[in-house]
Amino acid sequence: MTSAIRRAICEQLPQLKNIYHALEVPSKLPQNAATRPMLQWILPADVAQQEHDLLESVKSQQFDATYIEQVRVVPRNGRNAAKVEFGIRPDAFTAQLLQAKQNPSMEPALREEHVVVEYSSPNIAKPFHVGHLRSTIIGNVLANLHQHLGYRTTRLNYLGDWGTQFGLLALGVQLSNVHDAQMRAAPIETLYNAYVTANKAAAADPQLAQQARELFSALEAGKDTTMSKQWEQYRQYTIEELTGVYERLGVHFDSYEWESQYSQRDIVDVLTQLRTAGLLQREEDGREIVVVDQRRVPVIKSDGSTLYLARDIAALLERQQRLRFSRMLYVVDNGQADHFKALFQTVSALDDRFNDKLQHVKFGRIHGMSTRQGNAIFLRDVLNEARDVMREKRSISTTTKVNNTLDDDHVCDILGVSAVLVNVLKQRRQRDYEFSWQQALQVNGDTGIKLQYTHCRLHNLLDNFKHIELAEVKPSWQHLTEEPADALALLYELARFEQCIWQAKEQLEACVVVNYLFGLCNATSRALKRLPVKQEKCPEKQRQRLLLFRAAKRTLQQGMQLLGLKPLNQM
Ligand code: ARG
Repeated sequence: MTSAIRRAICEQLPQLKNIYHALEVPSKLPQNAATRPMLQWILPADVAQQEHDLLESVKSQQFDATYIEQVRVVPRNGRNAAKVEFGIRPDAFTAQLLQAKQNPSMEPALREEHVVVEYSSPNIAKPFHVGHLRSTIIGNVLANLHQHLGYRTTRLNYLGDWGTQFGLLALGVQLSNVHDAQMRAAPIETLYNAYVTANKAAAADPQLAQQARELFSALEAGKDTTMSKQWEQYRQYTIEELTGVYERLGVHFDSYEWESQYSQRDIVDVLTQLRTAGLLQREEDGREIVVVDQRRVPVIKSDGSTLYLARDIAALLERQQRLRFSRMLYVVDNGQADHFKALFQTVSALDDRFNDKLQHVKFGRIHGMSTRQGNAIFLRDVLNEARDVMREKRSISTTTKVNNTLDDDHVCDILGVSAVLVNVLKQRRQRDYEFSWQQALQVNGDTGIKLQYTHCRLHNLLDNFKHIELAEVKPSWQHLTEEPADALALLYELARFEQCIWQAKEQLEACVVVNYLFGLCNATSRALKRLPVKQEKCPEKQRQRLLLFRAAKRTLQQGMQLLGLKPLNQM
């Protein structure tokens, strides 16, 4: 962690908005890397005019000499941007990176900002499809990144449990004579089956289709209290089942919210607001249409029931009231881009304070993520598949030996989930891509298995030398830089951690963290090879190497946890 050093610089330069902003460890090792570590501040092109003043003011600053030894201003030259290089005291640098206690430094300014991330948001009684999986995994990482950096974060799951199709579900439950025990045991599957049954029946019989619409109208009007109670019960069961799956994925939420919270009778006020603002038009057949940006989007059906957009408008206004967020991220697939455009334009027309606060974090499709038996409908099946494939692979593998002292099922599950998570997260989110078990499970490729494997190696090494007391050892730049360049490379890699977290947050791209971790693993493997601990005769060198590997393990662990992985010590 270079936070203390960063802070020392930021305190003198208000232009740097916070300690993570714009300060970076160069991505290529500079030539004199071994002599003096440095952080650089590359001036963005748009400050070119004030550049001169800025650079002059930098020269006149006094930086904290505990950390900063030298400041060099490099003016713009041809295509190269102007930059400021902060030479760090080598021992302060090593101490910051390798010392035992590291508090992730929270920026007080960031804490003022409340970021709400809405993700996962499946529909009850419908399959939790791969799009929901991608939302779940990406959303969780985005929330983790914000939280890690010190933002106030709230994680929302906005479940679909409303709309005409739920009339079909209600009908299906009646038709298939579902028992409560069945519902309790496997709610998602049972509800899904009921829905499929009703869908088929209604397609063949218009009367049943009509009945389904009426059921939903009744439900929406809140007339039928038994049915409403039952609905609540289904929701409860569904949450219980989902929580189990989320737990396997390392995902959690601060709150589960439902589309049905924004039903007809709950959004009368919202409709009035929209009408007063001239945003709502009534059609002859009774439908209500929102007109934004020359597009006409229905929000209320002719029978008075609400549509998806109406509920989202109401939910957003209510969330702003309740949560007073400074930013709201909706992690939802590309397919809903138009919907979110309409949503954001509508609420911004109501209240311009929404401008710039809302963002649809879009992502593309994943093809081919299915079980070997065919299409996976339920997320649980995909995860079980991952675990089983992993188990088979382990039983024939030579690199990973089966260790009988471990709960094998548990380890296979964690490995399988790691493979899936990392495979999803390593892609830029807008990309459509093809999922392959083959690729996802390789130990040597860029996979979740590689991250776990490297973590295990580091754990193992540190465990073998736990008799060596490190508490009093002072990290020494000199000892480490005497080593082959691999020590230096790893040290710089560690120093890059925070800027990667910041970049990932800025771009809302988990792949920045994933790629960083692959780089860290590669640097670690090289260092493990070139800097042996056991064969090393000099005890001081041994200790310094252990400090380095301990820091590598800690950073890898932290990065993995940000991705939702559970780092293993043995596999
Ligand atoms: N339940 C929706 C679906 O599965 C996704 C909800 C996205 N969030 C929102 N606020 N509309 O398609």
